[in-house]
Amino acid sequence: MGSAIIHDSQAGRWPPPVRLPPGAPRIIPKAVQGIAFFAARRQVTESLARRYGGAFRLDAPVFGRLVVVADPELAKQVFTSRPDDLGAIKPNLSRLLGPGSVFGLDGADHRRRRKLLAQPFHASNMQNYERIVEEETLREIAGWPEAEPFATLPPMKRVTLNVILRAVFGAEGAEFDELRDIIVPWARLGARLSVLPMPARTYGRYTPWGRLAEWRRKYDTVIDRMIGKALSDPGLADRADILALLLRSAYEDGSPMSRQDIHDDLLTLLVAGHETTATTLAWVFEQLSRHPQVLSALAQEADADDSELRQAAIYEVQRTRSVIDFSGRRVRAPAFELGEWVLPRDYSIIVSISQCHANPDAFPEPGRFDPQRYIESRPSPFAWIPFGGGARRCAGAAFAKMEMNVLIRTVLRNMIIETTQAPGEKLRAGGLGFLPKDGGRVTVRKRQAP
Ligand code: HEM
Repeated sequence: MGSAIIHDSQAGRWPPPVRLPPGAPRIIPKAVQGIAFFAARRQVTESLARRYGGAFRLDAPVFGRLVVVADPELAKQVFTSRPDDLGAIKPNLSRLLGPGSVFGLDGADHRRRRKLLAQPFHASNMQNYERIVEEETLREIAGWPEAEPFATLPPMKRVTLNVILRAVFGAEGAEFDELRDIIVPWARLGARLSVLPMPARTYGRYTPWGRLAEWRRKYDTVIDRMIGKALSDPGLADRADILALLLRSAYEDGSPMSRQDIHDDLLTLLVAGHETTATTLAWVFEQLSRHPQVLSALAQEADADDSELRQAAIYEVQRTRSVIDFSGRRVRAPAFELGEWVLPRDYSIIVSISQCHANPDAFPEPGRFDPQRYIESRPSPFAWIPFGGGARRCAGAAFAKMEMNVLIRTVLRNMIIETTQAPGEKLRAGGLGFLPKDGGRVTVRKRQAP
């Protein structure tokens, strides 16, 4: 049948007939499939992948009919597809962030925006932000308790938020405090509302949606003021923050990014980059405290100013403890060929990041934590996919890598992380990501000055 499809499309019959992968048994009602998927999506995906292989069908609430991809070869097809064939999964966070958010753009609009974002987020620009990460880390660890366990997730959230406010928004002083006071409650409420259907209109400022809109109005006022100030700043050309770079850049036709799009995309960068990085870092602490040999080699490396092992250890944490589990797309073409399957327009595709990371062909003994996998060899772009892949791969991946690298280096240079034989923390589903159940608890001591 698979060859018949190849024959159909090769013979020019387009679109070829729909051919869907196997699905969860029909005897399980849709609603139950959906509830099971949301309540225990990692376990459900794992057991369906064991049963059906690399691709299977599922009916899920919110996304509707979808195909889950659990195999790096099929993931490669998704990530190397033409952006006009596969677009953004719907709904996505742009319904909260605004129509100018890169999350919601498709086709030519998405390409244009990603081109504009590429230069500010290019790896070669990242050293500009290392000092900010180091300063924020030192400020945070100065208050850490010694010799008593504490959860690293809250401090990591504080550091990553402060870093984004300074490096991305270019906020300092009063504006920094003002933005933080608005964005923290906005994001907390937004995360809760993001999984609910959106009402057609808001019902007054004291309802949750009304409160969200009120925070958003305050945010828009502050950003508008910051943009106005930046544009009249004679030093704008020397500023390195992402807002300044966006204000100085233009699309290929010479037009600038609109103010509204800048508002929406700065918020997008914050929402996409703050908790993801903080949670990954909490997992790094949790895992390092359980791998004494790796930890002691990392402490030596931090003093010697190398970074290869540190980078490899972070890669391995991202593989074994993927914070974001899914990279989603929606079929925009009349049909999309995925291996032997043909999916019709409007089907959603979800690449299971954790299933690709557990693939034994790509990662022998996938359950073993082993940073050596990446020494002298880069991770495969289709099997190692914590940042997703293809045209919609995480726009801030280089930023996140820089931030995690500098933060861990700074901690290791100043603190001794105690090791533990306690079992690893379990995964807890929180919003879109997976968190360490106890927040990544560690015990530290200050290092004595040599
Ligand atoms: C360890 C931290 C991070 C992880 C694990 C992560 C993961 C991801 C993933 C899985 C996607 C979806 C990719 C896809 O669909 O193929 C994504 C998209 C995105 N991320 Fe990240 N991310 C991180 C940090 C950041 C940071 C620091 C920023 C910016 C400051 C950022 C900005 C974005 C943006 C703008 C998108 C949307 C890209 C698009 O739709 O074109 N992320 N991220």
